[in-house]
Amino acid sequence: MKVIVTGASKGIGRGIATYLAMDGMTVGLLARSQELLEDLAQGIRDQGGACETAACDLRDLDATTGAIGELADKLEGVDALVNNAGLVIRKNVFDLSPEEWRRMIETNVNGVFYATRAALPHLQRSGGGHIINISSISGKLPLPGGSGYAASKYAVTGFSLSLFQELRDHNITVSTIYPGSVDSESHRHGDQTDTSWKVAPEDVGKVCRDILTAASGTAISELEIRPLRRPPKS
Ligand SMILES: NC(=O)c1ccc[n+]([C@@H]2O[C@H](COP(=O)([O-])OP(=O)(O)OC[C@H]3O[C@@H](n4cnc5c(N)ncnc54)[C@H](OP(=O)(O)O)[C@@H]3O)[C@@H](O)[C@H]2O)c1
Repeated sequence: MKVIVTGASKGIGRGIATYLAMDGMTVGLLARSQELLEDLAQGIRDQGGACETAACDLRDLDATTGAIGELADKLEGVDALVNNAGLVIRKNVFDLSPEEWRRMIETNVNGVFYATRAALPHLQRSGGGHIINISSISGKLPLPGGSGYAASKYAVTGFSLSLFQELRDHNITVSTIYPGSVDSESHRHGDQTDTSWKVAPEDVGKVCRDILTAASGTAISELEIRPLRRPPKS
């Protein structure tokens, strides 16, 4: 299976791409940082995995269409897209600047739409496939102190659940994942030193694998993954 993962240079995307590649899938790695993507690609190839890279800013429609086309060429087809890239700016409405709001909406909402639009012709050429959208628990529950981020993730949820209905007759399965706390650097806030209680990025990769290998004719349309343990008391 050939899977494009956005936001593969760091955090959850890196974990998803690594897990899927080690599981035998061929992965297309996409993010802005070509250097970090090459570093990951080298690591995957050293362990016997197969991957390709393409860099772009997902806020730019033309650049995104070009990068997904480049990956489709290099991979010789696309079976799945994981819309993982995202930006969290955890500030309340008094502190979040209009520029920060725009940057989050452009990355988390426009970026998901642009990548989806760019991937659809390639999925159709493969006879169908999968789209996995990484929303958040904050895409279904309020996040006081992070209203802009929650707004962007509720948008992902609404888009993704609607897309499931729009694409099911095209043999394309759409799944929405709602992660709780996952151990990535950008989501370390406050003075957290012990992050061992959080979900590991590779564990989100494992649920992506489960979604992508679900029995034919079935769809895992929504999936919530949370840490079992609670944060340590500070
Ligand atoms: N960590 C959590 O606890 C958690 C919980 C729920 C949901 N999520 C969601 O999971 C996803 C990944 O989060 P994370 O914690 O792994 O974040 P992260 O460590 O900051 O990684 C974000 C990834 O997205 C890429 N990216 C950001 N803006 C981009 C842009 N404009 N164009 C292309 N790529 C871009 C980054 O690469 P470059 O900088 O190289 O472009 C990076 O690879 C996000 O959608 C986030 O909202 C995270």
